[in-house]
Amino acid sequence: MSDRRKRSLLFFDDDDDDDDDDDDDNDDAALFLPPLSSSPFTPHPIKTPSPPPPPKRHQKTTTTTTSALEPVIPAEIMQLHHSKHHQAYVSNLNAAAEKHAAAEARGDVAAMVSLQPALRFNGGGHVNHSLLWQTLCPVADFEPPRGALERAIEESFGGGGGGGRGGQGSGGSGSAKQPAALDRLQQEMAAAAVGVQGSGWAWLGFDPSAAAAGRKGQQQLVVRATANQDPLGTAFPGLVPLYGIDVWEHAYYLRYKNARPDYVREIWKVTDWRRVAALFEEAAAKGK
Ligand SMILES: [Fe+2]
Repeated sequence: MSDRRKRSLLFFDDDDDDDDDDDDDNDDAALFLPPLSSSPFTPHPIKTPSPPPPPKRHQKTTTTTTSALEPVIPAEIMQLHHSKHHQAYVSNLNAAAEKHAAAEARGDVAAMVSLQPALRFNGGGHVNHSLLWQTLCPVADFEPPRGALERAIEESFGGGGGGGRGGQGSGGSGSAKQPAALDRLQQEMAAAAVGVQGSGWAWLGFDPSAAAAGRKGQQQLVVRATANQDPLGTAFPGLVPLYGIDVWEHAYYLRYKNARPDYVREIWKVTDWRRVAALFEEAAAKGK
């Protein structure tokens, strides 16, 4: 991974490579979120970032990382969102998984079934937030979609002269123009996000079946909304999540209050399209 790319990522530091010590110049600019603590018991290997980073880095993560998305997402939101909300999903997931394993061991199927809601909710919360942290970047590192993803956006949202408002410039580059297809994608995402009743997510997803069919006009990139912490693929089997907008109030209320549309508009300024493109290319390769 290039130094520049490393700087642009928001990620959990589960890398305890010795070569970190050779990287001090970049450490100052690196963006780390502190690792989530895992339960002492993980009967099933739920992926939580581990092991804890070395003290030097850990100290740095707690002081520099949460401000990485300002002014779009204030440090206070990031701190609470990551260390409290996401952490709660992980802790509760581990607890439910342990109970499930115990129930399975004693053959208590009824207990196993009763744990499914907790596994779904907290497991979904962990999966969704893990993707979220990967797909955000500082405003200064923003780049618009390029390459295969840009072409897929054009094919899926270009609309053959319909929908897009062209030149609205709602993206995060600060430039006045962006492709009409990207405008349309963002409009659909905004509608999905604002339309979520209560808490949930708006998603940009990849539809492997549409891509495989190769029919002209059939969208391989789609926009969907899910309730609560349902992952995209749970609510819409087969779809692969590429980017999600978290519209739980914990994601935006301290900054945007009840103006969810403002938050949904601003989030594009910290969307890491390079990471989204990588996820798209990975999903597309698997779907062939
Ligand atoms: Fe969240």
